[in-house]
Amino acid sequence: MEVAAQGNISATHLQQFKNIVGEPYVLYDEESLKHYGHDETELLLFLPEVVLKPSTTEEISAIMKICNEDRIPVTPRGAGTGLSGGALPHLGGVLLSTERLNKIISIDERNLQVTTEPGVITEVLQNAVKEKGLFYPPDPSSRGSCFIGGNIAENSGGPKAVKYGVVKDYVLNLEVVLPNGEVIWTGANVLKNSTGYNLTQLVVGSEGTLGIVTKIVLKLIPLPSYDLLMLVPFASLDKASEAVSAIFRAGFTPSGLELVEIDALKIVAAMVDSHAVPVSDDIAAHLLIEVDGNNLDVLMSEMEAISDLLMQFEAGEIFFADNAQQKAELWKLRRRVAEAVKMDGYTIEEDTVVPRAELPTLIRGVKQLGKQYNFEAVCYGHAGDGNLHIRIKKQGTANSQEDPEMVKGLRALFELVYDLGGTISGEHGIGLIQKGFMDIVFKEANLRLMREIKKAFDPNNILNAGKIFDLN
Ligand code: LAC
Ligand code: ZN
Repeated sequence: MEVAAQGNISATHLQQFKNIVGEPYVLYDEESLKHYGHDETELLLFLPEVVLKPSTTEEISAIMKICNEDRIPVTPRGAGTGLSGGALPHLGGVLLSTERLNKIISIDERNLQVTTEPGVITEVLQNAVKEKGLFYPPDPSSRGSCFIGGNIAENSGGPKAVKYGVVKDYVLNLEVVLPNGEVIWTGANVLKNSTGYNLTQLVVGSEGTLGIVTKIVLKLIPLPSYDLLMLVPFASLDKASEAVSAIFRAGFTPSGLELVEIDALKIVAAMVDSHAVPVSDDIAAHLLIEVDGNNLDVLMSEMEAISDLLMQFEAGEIFFADNAQQKAELWKLRRRVAEAVKMDGYTIEEDTVVPRAELPTLIRGVKQLGKQYNFEAVCYGHAGDGNLHIRIKKQGTANSQEDPEMVKGLRALFELVYDLGGTISGEHGIGLIQKGFMDIVFKEANLRLMREIKKAFDPNNILNAGKIFDLN
């Protein structure tokens, strides 16, 4: 689906933008517009009218002043790896890329903090702090290409979240350009803060609707010395998902507890041409379980105890990754599931989250809804968090919004999630494609408060308008 840009921008605006960021960083050729018109969400494409690539807070502030004055829609964008359409310029206007704000400003080893610009690739940031023996845990599957700024916008998670928490747990302070061009710091570079409303946490996960984050201060922790990884096959999806909460109830907190349904594993193994995991017909799903810490003996005995426990859930023969290469291979398979199944026609992705022990009921419900609404679904994701990614393939339907039966099926799915005590998105955000379902999980009073907050930040509704919810 391709949607053309609308007429918000004049020749005068273009000249003003060139004066601010420099001519090479104002793009409106067809190829650029197409490139910046999509992210990883389904097969959606919305063309912006112009792409701007500022390199400083001041340039972004100057751009926002013009856009606010003249009511030009602005869509901020990181690396474009989002899965809910947060960076899609569906109203045309300015696409503001943060890719040139790509410096790690400082690593404060005394206070265990890092200050960075938003356009730094998450894995680059992780590696930079790792060199100092420090650890920034949130690790979305796309960490090799996504930007830390996008992670802030979506409050991303990833496999390590189950032990270490998500992005919000690491953000101490943010420099933000408000929609009218004003620049603020949201908090202070401190570990505790009871000083007024928590604007920092309000901006985290706000999907670029409240302001443009231009500097980020993150908390770091010491890097654990060891990790161990095992892959556990199960003959039934039910048993695999039931085992998840049992592990925590038995007193363990793995640093990764991922589930991958067999169809997803077969597809990704074929795509990356990997034979690391034997795939036989009697396997329905795997759990990938990691523990980490500073005492190897303790970790070994934890792994053993977890393996023993899993036998109660009819686990098959467990594969223990022996060395760094085997671990990397298993994690590669897991991290590339989304990309692989998308190429295989599973273009629609949901990011449901339920209280952990409700996971088996959710998965059974997903399969049942697939039969009822004529879609195929593969399940994978952060089982330890109750955060289930559901990839959907429906004949003749590339986008979740175009097919009324698909919309009904998704509504039924989110109603089930809500009934189980869960919600629509655990880490990908609501963005463009899920805003129509917000009434399932929120009362009108909740939505009214969110709209009022949006209005307080952005009275002219120019910044990433029509994301998360519609204003009117
Ligand atoms: C993952 C992304 C899709 O977990 O969130 O692979
Ligand atoms: Zn995920």
